[in-house]
Formats: sequence, structure tokens, C-alpha cells
Amino acid sequence: VTDRSSLAIGFLDSGVGGLTVLREVAATLPHEHLIYFGDTARMPYGEKSSAEVLRYSVENAKFLMQKHPLKLLVIACNTAAAHSQHQLPLHCPFPVIGVIEAGVESVVRETTGQQIAVLGTRSTIRSGIYEREILKRLPKANVTSIACPLLAPLVEEHFINHEATKLIIREYLAPLKHQKIDTLLLGCTHYPLLRHLIADELNKDIVIVDSAKSCAEKIEILFKNNDLSRFDSKTIGQQTFYVSDDPQRFSLSAKSYLGFAPNIALA
Ligand code: DGL
Repeated sequence: VTDRSSLAIGFLDSGVGGLTVLREVAATLPHEHLIYFGDTARMPYGEKSSAEVLRYSVENAKFLMQKHPLKLLVIACNTAAAHSQHQLPLHCPFPVIGVIEAGVESVVRETTGQQIAVLGTRSTIRSGIYEREILKRLPKANVTSIACPLLAPLVEEHFINHEATKLIIREYLAPLKHQKIDTLLLGCTHYPLLRHLIADELNKDIVIVDSAKSCAEKIEILFKNNDLSRFDSKTIGQQTFYVSDDPQRFSLSAKSYLGFAPNIALA
């Protein structure tokens, strides 16, 4: 009988962005084995149709499952989660957690006045999933969704503290100036790296929810409640990375997320 607790946690993303999620999970559960797939050959997902992103996500999940036995799959990309979070569990004989459900649960906990803003890629915002999931739990909430298609590419280009990025964030957040929001959700994996710039454009008392952090907290609770934590809690877990194109470029970008340039294998 395989001991499920010793199996790996799989992460799916379109590229490097999902490393914000992996980083939080590694900090919260350092003894777990983590295996990550970044679909760099087909990114960005943020501009693609629902059917296309769903097809990629199923293929990527199958790739990870065939590489390693998993005990959990994390959809570490908001755009992938927007289009596949209901279908992927049908393909996986283990739990599947998406960044969207984790982020929504945190927003519901944090909001004081149910005035909520969500930032995401065009494809995520167009799917309407955040409004639907928030309104399911808070039917009276007022949700403002803003598509920010330029932000993920700016992070990919390492324009993290750049004047151009500040201007673009100001432009995207301008509609919020006339609204009294109390909570803002970072609904794209790249945005935690721009959190400080986003915060600069907002009222100090607005709570910013980072779905990467929420996801790590949700996994910690799931593992505790289901005895899924790795028993060998003396050794640090292994981290394995695959991409579908250009491992060198991925390794360099990964440095700004992880603090070190990991070894990457081509899938
Ligand atoms: N990782 C994606 C997300 O969280 C953004 C990057 C992309 O467009 O592929 O929405």
C-alpha cells in the first residue's frame, strides 16, 4: 500500500507566475515534495479562450500525474483555474485546489463592508467566475472586476519597480477612486510581486488579499484534517520543475520569485 502522505503536491501554471503560490506553500509546508509544471510554450493564458485553457490544463495535469504520484493538485494560475476548476477534479483521483476558491474564501473572511474589487487577466475577468463565486457566498456584495492585461507581461519583463508599471497600475485602478471598496483581491499569480505598487494607489485601510497566501493556508488545513502531511518531517521536501519551452529563461525569471535559480527540465 502506498503511503499517500509521502506523495508530492503538483502545481500547474502557464509560466513562472504560479511560483508565487509554490513559494507560499514551501514556506508553510517545508517538508512536502513539490512538483511544478509551467506551460511556457503556450503562455500567456490570459488572452486565450475558455475551451483552449481548459484543454491545456487537462493535458498539463495528465503530464504531472504521469511524472509523479500526487496527493494534491494545485491550479496555481487564476486563468487556468477560471476555466478548469470544475472539470479537473474529474480527471484526478486526489483533491484539487484552485487559487480562485482559496482567494474567494479569504475575501469573504476579510471584507468588512462587502465592497470588493478583483484584478485579473482579461480571460479570468471575462469568465465572471470571481463575481459568481463571491455572490454565491455574499449575495449582497458589490464586486468591481478590472482586467489588467498589461500587468503580467510587465512582471515577466522584470519591470517590477518601473515608472511605466506605476503609471499603468494608476490607470487600471482609476475606476476605484470613485468607489468605496474595502477589500481588493489580487486575482492573478503575477500581482503579488506588484503588491507594493498597487497598495500605493489605494486607500491605506483597504485590505489586499493575495490568493497565493490563501491557497497555502487552505492546503495546510486540508492536510491537517485529512492526515496528508508528510510523515518524514525532518527532511526538507524536494522541489522539481518542468517547463514546456525555454528552461534557461524560466530559471532566470524564477530567481525573482524564489530567491534562487532552480534547475529546470524540459517537458
Ligand atoms: N498565471 C496567469 C494567471 O494567474 C497569468 C499569466 C498568463 O496570462 O498566462 O492568471
